[in-house]
Amino acid sequence: MSPAPTEKPLLATVLGKVQDRPPMWIMRQAGRYLPEYREVRAKVGDFLDLCYSPRLATEVTLQPLRRFDLDAAILFSDILVVPDALGQKVRFETGEGPVLEPLQPDGLGALQPEKALERLAPVLETVTRVKSALAPEKTLIGFCGSPWTVATYMIGGRGSPDQAAARLFALREPEAFAALVDVLVDTSIAYLAAQFRAGADVVQLFESWALNLDDIAFVERVIEPNRRIVEGLRRLLPDAPVIGFPRGAAGMIGKYAEMTGVNAVGLDYAVPLQFAAGTLPPTLGLQGNLDPLRLVAGGPQMEDRARAIVSAFRGRPHIFNLGHGIVPETPIAHVERLVEVVKGG
Ligand code: CP3
Repeated sequence: MSPAPTEKPLLATVLGKVQDRPPMWIMRQAGRYLPEYREVRAKVGDFLDLCYSPRLATEVTLQPLRRFDLDAAILFSDILVVPDALGQKVRFETGEGPVLEPLQPDGLGALQPEKALERLAPVLETVTRVKSALAPEKTLIGFCGSPWTVATYMIGGRGSPDQAAARLFALREPEAFAALVDVLVDTSIAYLAAQFRAGADVVQLFESWALNLDDIAFVERVIEPNRRIVEGLRRLLPDAPVIGFPRGAAGMIGKYAEMTGVNAVGLDYAVPLQFAAGTLPPTLGLQGNLDPLRLVAGGPQMEDRARAIVSAFRGRPHIFNLGHGIVPETPIAHVERLVEVVKGG
């Protein structure tokens, strides 16, 4: 008899297994709060050079797992490598975030979907390298940005508090917007399938700007493109495990989970625990949802809330995580303590 394959607790939870203690990872776990990340980062010029260097990206992917007892590595890359690979150049300005030349309705023809996967080859090589370096019980998470979230950067040219440029574009130029979403859906399906083939165990769809949308726009711009990606991916790879993270979905989160077919949903920190535990289907995996600023502040407020989250989701598939990305000011000692609290009590 061949030995049982080593179980990956985090992957098993995505697939519906209930554990005594939730497996955990930390959103944006490789990043500026780690001195060893800042050291690597200082050696490269542009942030995207780091994303496109398989050797360095593998190193920073593994850094958080060397320090903390986490159950997953997440590929080090960015959601904006996709517009970059489509030919809309992305720059990261220090202190300002990403900057793109805003996409115009007549500019879609300049995008080069046929070149995208080739340009993303270094990222796929990182996946392969990480996979071979990772202990068998660790889950490797791949990802991409969801079409609406990526489109908000492509259209607005940068992050904005209300995504007004993209919201107006979608309303005034519905055909151009639909064509853009088609490109992003198709590219994301091919890109995620390639990540699975390179060694990813599960993928997360980052819909970080599922905010500021009325219910019609939410269905059209968030649910429908995410559903198409899950469906397209499973046509290529049946049963591909997917986590959706529709940040800000609020009362639409149940509908998002039901209609997209994701295995698990990431909860942002504003989702009330009793609402999530009481209204979402008991077999749906839940991931989250500590406020990252509780982790910055630390102490009893953090520990009590972390325990409350674990206890609210006990008896159902739950992956402990933050409700959004870890911030650079986070003290490492607080992360160590959080892992102890979640894993040990
Ligand atoms: O461990 C990991 O999760 C690292 C991989 C990762 C990064 N970005 C690295 C990164 C992942 C999964 C992302 C996702 C991402 N990127 C999202 C979705 C998640 C979220 O936070 O909502 C979004 C919206 C982006 C776009 C983006 N990238 C912005 C707005 C910025 C600037 C602001 C910021 O958060 O720093 C980035 C830059 C970025 N991406 C950094 C890192 C480590 C910092 C840049 C640097 O080190 O110079």
